[in-house]
Amino acid sequence: MENFTFYSPTYFDFGKETESHAGKLIKRFGGSKVLIHYGGGSVIRSGLLDRVKKSLEDESLAYVMLGGVQPNPRSGLVYEGIELCKKEGVDFILAVGGGSVIDSAKAIAIGTCYDGDFWDFYMGKPIEEAIPVGTVLTIAAAGSEGSPDSVITKEEGMLKRATSGNVLRPKFSILNPALTQTLPPYQTAAGITDIMAHLYERYLTNTKEVEVTDRLLEALLLTMIHEGPRVIADPDNYEARANIMWAGMVGHNNTCGVGRSQDWNSHTIEHELSALYDCAHGAGLAVTLPAVFRYVYKHDVMRFAKVASRVWGCQMDFDNPESTALAGITALETFLKSIGMPVRFDELGAKKEDIPTLVKNLCYGEGRDGKIQGFVTLYAEDCRKIYEMMAE
Ligand code: NZQ
Ligand code: ZN
Repeated sequence: MENFTFYSPTYFDFGKETESHAGKLIKRFGGSKVLIHYGGGSVIRSGLLDRVKKSLEDESLAYVMLGGVQPNPRSGLVYEGIELCKKEGVDFILAVGGGSVIDSAKAIAIGTCYDGDFWDFYMGKPIEEAIPVGTVLTIAAAGSEGSPDSVITKEEGMLKRATSGNVLRPKFSILNPALTQTLPPYQTAAGITDIMAHLYERYLTNTKEVEVTDRLLEALLLTMIHEGPRVIADPDNYEARANIMWAGMVGHNNTCGVGRSQDWNSHTIEHELSALYDCAHGAGLAVTLPAVFRYVYKHDVMRFAKVASRVWGCQMDFDNPESTALAGITALETFLKSIGMPVRFDELGAKKEDIPTLVKNLCYGEGRDGKIQGFVTLYAEDCRKIYEMMAE
């Protein structure tokens, strides 16, 4: 196991009707003037936004509102949010929504404390300061409710890039699984896929003897395989949604990723798809993961064979572990298809003729040097082949 530090100070308030605690929690974490940030309207239609506003009013907290965050959140609204926060003297941001709203809130939180362009931090500048963020989560997927990360798309050039810093971990996150019951099935499935991708991207490691995190990741993958189909079959199944919601948080706040190298090539490759075609990140991953895995599995056949046998129940063939490894990848693909996810490039709206653009943005776009590095190092030529595998 490698040396590590792990700092995860988020306070979690989990369960039914916990959104009514928002006002008290903001006060507890020092907020007095709040920006309520939200998305395209699901929180208005469900009545959640009104309940959250009431909770702030009950605590006599002043607030301003900024809605309109799109999935795959854009830089334009971030600039608007920063200006609003500076003008209004906002000292706390409450994100009410999914990963996109939370990531946009985190970007505004950094930009409000900075005189330059917030995009500098998405180009590698270390983050030192941000105003505090709290969340009321409405979809189990991105894990941003516990993570130090934020992913934003810069409209100029449609570049999707991430930044990370412990200061971006939410002060609190309110996780009420019942809030996810209004999700369309496709979004629920995209969320399940993203959570599984976060587990796989950590499982693919070059660090030896990391049994404790291997086993935690396997347990979470098994949970997703058990609960995913249950929630797709019965969207009102609170217990299944509760298990998925907590798995999504534990899977991405890095409890299961410490002390080991991680992959993230599939995420980086997918981010170009959701940047160019505006597809759901999880749906993009459903197409990306099997292609990347089939391309790289020979780098460590036994690791793929291990997850195949321990998680997917494939028979371990010690004479031919490659066949076990490949059976595990097929099992993952079949599972994703069974919950309603796309498996082909064109189902995302992606076009074969765009592959050169995808590769160019991925490997030579702002902040890149011709390759991406993870479980294996992938050069432009490798990435072209992977996108072509998705299009076959
Ligand atoms: O905008 P509204 O109207 O709220 O609708 C949203 C949106 O259309 C809808 N939705 C959310 N909760 C709902 C609901 N509809 C009905 N009922 C509810 N309860 O679902 C759609 C998708 O929402 P979004 O926030 O985009 O989903 P998700 O949480 O999957 O976030 C995706 C973004 O997170 C990034 C992705 O790249 C993508 O931009 N990621 C962020 C990470 C992080 N910060 O740690 C890590 C991830 O790997 C990921 O890259
Ligand atoms: Zn993800």
